[in-house]
Amino acid sequence: MSLNRIQVFAPASVANVGPGYDTFGFAIEHLGDVISLTKRSDSKLNILKSAGADLPTDPAKNVATVAIQSLLDSLDSQQGFDVHIKKLFKPGSGLGSSASSASGAVYAANKLLGEPYTDEQLLEFALDGEELASGMIHADNVAPSLLGGFQAVRSYEPLELFRIPTPEELRVLIIFPDVEVKTSEAKGLVPKELSVKEAREQWGNVGALIHAMHTADYKLMSHAITDRIAEPVRRQLIPHYGKVKQYAMDHGAVGFNISGSGPSMFALFKSAETAKSCMTEIEKVYQKADLPVMLNLSRINPNGCQVI
Ligand code: HSE
Repeated sequence: MSLNRIQVFAPASVANVGPGYDTFGFAIEHLGDVISLTKRSDSKLNILKSAGADLPTDPAKNVATVAIQSLLDSLDSQQGFDVHIKKLFKPGSGLGSSASSASGAVYAANKLLGEPYTDEQLLEFALDGEELASGMIHADNVAPSLLGGFQAVRSYEPLELFRIPTPEELRVLIIFPDVEVKTSEAKGLVPKELSVKEAREQWGNVGALIHAMHTADYKLMSHAITDRIAEPVRRQLIPHYGKVKQYAMDHGAVGFNISGSGPSMFALFKSAETAKSCMTEIEKVYQKADLPVMLNLSRINPNGCQVI
C-alpha cells in the first residue's frame, strides 16, 4: 500500500564555516523544520498555516512548495499535497531556514512518490526552492540539511559535492542574538573581487580546515577558521560579535565565525563541558545589552533529513 502521509525533520545548518564561503556547511541537531506532507486527491499544493513562523501561503512564494513543484515537474506528476511546516528556529537567523524547508519538503515528497530519486538527486530541486529565498543558488545550507554531516561543494557547474569527516567529540555552540539579517542584504556586502593575496590566504585556510577535520588537529582548526571574504564586512551587523568571539576563543573554542549570513555565530569546542562553561558568560553579554539570545549546543549532525 502506498504511503499517504509523512513527517520529516530537516536540520538547520551552519554555512561557510569560516573560509568556505558558499562552499562549506554542516548540519546541526535540535534546530530545524518539521515538515508534514499529505497526498491530496487533486493536483493542488496547499500550504497549511505554519507553526513557529509566519510563512507565505502562496505556493509560488513558499520555498517548500517551489521545491516540491520543481520535483513534480521533473516527473511530469500532477500529485497534489497538503504541506505543513513547523519551524523550530527563526527564519533570517543564519541557520539555513529556507534550506531546511526546501530540503525537508522535497525529501518528504520523494518518499510519498515512491522514491523515484536518491537523496543526492534531490539537491537540484531543493536548490530551486532555496533560490527563491536568497536570489541565487548556493548549496552550502541545502547540502548538509538534506544529506547531513559536513558537506563541501567542489563545483556548482556541474554540481559536485563531497563529505568531510569530522571528529566525533566536536561540539557546536550556536549563538543567535535576536536581530534579523536578510541573506540577500548580507550577500550585497560581500566584495565582488578578491586580490590574489587575499585568495591565497583563503585557499590556504580552506585546505587547512579540511585537513584539521580529518586529523582532529585543533590548533590548525583554530587557525583555519578565519575568513577574508564575508566576516570582515558582515560582523558589523552582529551585536557584540568581537567581544563574544574573543571570549569564546580565550575559553577553549577551537574555531568561531559567523554562521551563514548571520546574525547567528558558531563556536566549535573539543567537548560539551568546555562549551557549557562558556555559555553563561555569553548569555550575560546579551542580557546586559537587553537583547534576547538563543544558544544551542549539539554535535555536528551526521544525518540530514529523516522521517520521524
Ligand atoms: N553562503 C551563504 C552566504 C549562506 O554566506 O551568503 C547564506 O546563509
